[in-house]
Amino acid sequence: MPRALGAIKDQAQDPLVRVVEIAMQGFAKASEPGAFLVDNFPVLRCTPEWLLPGGGFKAIARRMRRELDEMYDLPYAFVKKEMEAGRARPSFISSYLEEKRIPTPADEELIKAAAASLYSGGADTTPSSMTAFILAMTLWPQIQTRAQAELDVVLGPSSSWTRLPTFADRARLPYINAIVLEVLRWNPAVPLGLAHRVTQDDVYHGCFIPKGTVVWANIWSMLQDPGVFPDPEVFRPERYLDADGNLRELERYEDPSIIGFGFGRRICPGMFFAMNSIFIGIATMLCVFNITKAKDENGEEIVPEVDFQGFISHPAPFKCEIAPRSEETATLIRRAAGQV
Ligand code: HEM
Repeated sequence: MPRALGAIKDQAQDPLVRVVEIAMQGFAKASEPGAFLVDNFPVLRCTPEWLLPGGGFKAIARRMRRELDEMYDLPYAFVKKEMEAGRARPSFISSYLEEKRIPTPADEELIKAAAASLYSGGADTTPSSMTAFILAMTLWPQIQTRAQAELDVVLGPSSSWTRLPTFADRARLPYINAIVLEVLRWNPAVPLGLAHRVTQDDVYHGCFIPKGTVVWANIWSMLQDPGVFPDPEVFRPERYLDADGNLRELERYEDPSIIGFGFGRRICPGMFFAMNSIFIGIATMLCVFNITKAKDENGEEIVPEVDFQGFISHPAPFKCEIAPRSEETATLIRRAAGQV
């Protein structure tokens, strides 16, 4: 079995990657509003399985349960085995197991569930934001140029670079921070959030909502409201900056980092982790790469379409070119990848 941490040689073949991918496909399907009639008509639960073609939603639910259990069990069993063999790399699971020493069955369930949530919650969402960022840089090169100029001021001229950007640089990179916010707004990774159930009768704008109703927060529509974000389809980080180029104090309704991660008790627990990952990913990519439009066989630039799809929203596949900004940055990339 491949190592859990470190370089993943072939993602499609790595069982620890596959198991999450499969479970998340089921999760996305099950979470789609209206995907299963039984969600709206719970009485259908009582239908005997033999009456449903191919076992219907009951057979699907059983398969998804099995896939979910595997996502909990496989990575946990792998780390335990590696620890017993004395070759485990430090990880979320290994540090909890070391702390607990003799975990009770309840501890084990909690550690498994926390690790699986951590991995599955971030496996598709953060990449969705990073791909949207690459699409935006392909379409709006002037934004990339301004962001790279900001980085060059903070890190010094590219010929003298010895390091990549770090979190310590963040406060001096307002434009990059604004790009992070605009990525969260332009392509909200979870555009409808997750289903919530109303715990008591409520009235909203004169509309009675009985206890037990399933409601969805339309994050996408809040972040595309032209009254709050003029020309919402345009990627424009300047929305979040004042006249001096500093980040503005944002009201809650105009802050994608507040809206994009959901609401209430079930708000995304990975929001700070996600914001940090996206920031460092974007800053690093801008530092070392130029992202440009790909060319077709006639040498004409290919302008990608903006087409976001899915319960976890991803841009449809598009073409672009990503090349090191200079020889120095190429060396930095190779060094970070452990190749020099
Ligand atoms: C761009 C990145 C991300 C976005 C936009 C995002 C957004 C969301 C949203 C909208 C929800 C639903 C909240 C609600 O029900 O109101 C959610 C739930 C969740 N997120 Fe994230 N998320 C991101 C990254 C992450 C990461 C990196 C992790 C884990 C490390 C994570 C873990 C979770 C978990 C476990 C839940 C379910 C929480 C629950 O139902 O109690 N997310 N996320």
